[in-house]
Amino acid sequence: MPNISARSQAAPASPIRRLYPLAVEAKRKGKRVYHLNIGQPDIPTPEAFLRGIREAKVEVLDYAPSPGRPEAIHAVQAYYAELGFHLTPQEILITIGGSEAITFALMVTCDPGDRVLIPEPFYPNYLGYARLANVEITPLTTFRSEGFHLPPRREIERHLTPNTKAILLSNPANPTGVVYTEAELDMLVALALQYDLFLIVDEVYREFVYDGKHKSILSYPEIAGQAIVVDSISKRLSACGARIGMLISRNKEVMAAAQKCATIRLSAPTFEQLGFAAFMADPNHRDIIARMIEEYRVRRDTFCEELAKIPGVTFRKPEGAFYVMFGLPVQDSEDFIRWMLTDFPGPETVMFAPGAGFYATPGKGQDEVRGAYVLNTEDLRRACAILAEGLTLYTAALARARG
Ligand SMILES: Cc1ncc(COP(=O)(O)O)c(C=O)c1O
Repeated sequence: MPNISARSQAAPASPIRRLYPLAVEAKRKGKRVYHLNIGQPDIPTPEAFLRGIREAKVEVLDYAPSPGRPEAIHAVQAYYAELGFHLTPQEILITIGGSEAITFALMVTCDPGDRVLIPEPFYPNYLGYARLANVEITPLTTFRSEGFHLPPRREIERHLTPNTKAILLSNPANPTGVVYTEAELDMLVALALQYDLFLIVDEVYREFVYDGKHKSILSYPEIAGQAIVVDSISKRLSACGARIGMLISRNKEVMAAAQKCATIRLSAPTFEQLGFAAFMADPNHRDIIARMIEEYRVRRDTFCEELAKIPGVTFRKPEGAFYVMFGLPVQDSEDFIRWMLTDFPGPETVMFAPGAGFYATPGKGQDEVRGAYVLNTEDLRRACAILAEGLTLYTAALARARG
């Protein structure tokens, strides 16, 4: 029998989904599971988007143009213009989710063996995409006690090697919720310029900012030739299943190469591109986004307030996205999450994502979990009460087992 590739074996399974079978089993036994493990928003997808799909006049569901349907590209231009960025259609590529934009960004900027510097903890699929592209990751560790903000410039420089081609980060960040300050972005821009690096910034959570101000990498004209933005409607429109994202850069060579990659996969989904165009044509689209962000602000505040009441739970209130990466008074948070799904008594339980899966450095994040506050406030309160009880019972069970 021939072997499967080393590349596919090196690609990590998503830590967010790995424990899922235990949740399925718990539910099969009749338990209610509060899912704080995955960034799947529960907010209804805007009606204008769904109506756009329902009312689309499509007789033959043919391939869309590889760069995207003109209506969708126009919608992206309109969205960015509202933010003050005027993009030409050539600076935009419609992708199959932000996920494909990340893949294209890596494929276009890096050769096998090249390195990408990524602040950790990071969105675990970055590692998966890098492995599939035979690109190496250099993790730059950030710390809970510092709100996961970046270390000083000297420390970042220490991590650069002659093979480093790019810096990749999400802002606001998954899993930490950090929103990088203007000073941090200034530093990254200066570094990318000095060391001739691409700066790939995943801004899919751009609108999800509750404290401070988000600054897009597009606002730095001096880095225009090296900056690549990854974007998506998944979170912003609560439309994860639409699979519509975008890659944006003012670098003509980058865009030409990405457009070429896009011809290989033919096209992005047609109906969802039309849905996005219809959403942008709705005069209320900004209010819809603003209302959703307000809801998440309340959720963040509630979640943090409840977490703060639990003995031994440590975190700094994050500024954006919809995640909190927090410490637990346990040695092995994955074991605790498993236990909550298999052994926690009663009709309900809660599920988080184990912290270690968000780090590339072995041993990091063992006592951390990521919570996604994607449930209503009442459910968030209940989930935190269950967490508190779970920690007490788990610690007692461990003590008993150790005699
Ligand atoms: C930081 C980040 N980038 C990209 C994605 C993937 O987005 P999409 O659904 O558009 O592929 C996610 C999804 O959770 C994410 O958290």
